[in-house]
Amino acid sequence: MFNEGQLYAPVVTGADGLVEVELDADHPGVGDPEYRARRNTIASLALGWTDDHPVPVADYTDEEHEVWRVVSRELEAKHARLACQAAREGRALLELPTDHIPQLPDVSAALAPLTGFTYIPAAGVVPSRDFYGSLADRRFWSTQYIRHHSVPLYTPEPDVVHEVIGHAVTLAESSYADLYVAAGRAARRVESDEALAFVARVFWFSLEFGVVHESDGLKAYGAGLLSSYGEIEEFRSTDLRRLDIPAMGVQAYDITHYQPVLFAAQSWSEVLDVVGGFFDSATDASIETLRSSVSVA
Ligand SMILES: [Fe+2]
Repeated sequence: MFNEGQLYAPVVTGADGLVEVELDADHPGVGDPEYRARRNTIASLALGWTDDHPVPVADYTDEEHEVWRVVSRELEAKHARLACQAAREGRALLELPTDHIPQLPDVSAALAPLTGFTYIPAAGVVPSRDFYGSLADRRFWSTQYIRHHSVPLYTPEPDVVHEVIGHAVTLAESSYADLYVAAGRAARRVESDEALAFVARVFWFSLEFGVVHESDGLKAYGAGLLSSYGEIEEFRSTDLRRLDIPAMGVQAYDITHYQPVLFAAQSWSEVLDVVGGFFDSATDASIETLRSSVSVA
């Protein structure tokens, strides 16, 4: 089973009202007081936001923009080789800046005319029902902080690079965007925590870590792969299995390592048919049937 809380550094607000992001002892920025202060400031922006106010902008430093420049350049080259066609099309439509970190309102302004998605700020982990459910409204909860400058090509937690170069690139393409919306509707439709966890795992093995066979080889379509400098080079040597919703829905995963098992679709249309079909029809009862079919097998 997964614990979504492992994904993000915990954010706590003290009795004095000060916000603190608790970084793990092995986080690259844990010993950098300036970075810690930046993380606290950026988390405060999201915690202070309410839906009736404009999405806050982060006052990024030159050092932070430089991290974006380095990662953008590297991932652009990798996407040309290893991203699926729909992701490459989304990337071309979105026209992301490569010389500075885009603000969340800028990401929304670019996405809205393409697929209607907008970005809203998250300080850290967002409860599953809120995170997935908001996708049904074409709203995407996004962190704003960026990884530590000492290791620009590595992050132990999802950052603005993941949210934008991974997710926004895909949310810019209409068939992808519809898949996210279908996932959101599934999350809203199911009632039990077990069924929601099943939906979340299918999301993980598709929109986060899905791979697809295309005419020129195996390609990444999941945002987790598309935003990972290291893992996007490794997925072709992973234990690849056929797209299989019951297996995906019960497969355990560990977010702290490269995924040892991935599910490969035969084509993008198979992703839309099989994964999209699951999201479109998932209910507590249908998921229970899928779960029992795996345990019997
Ligand atoms: Fe993600």
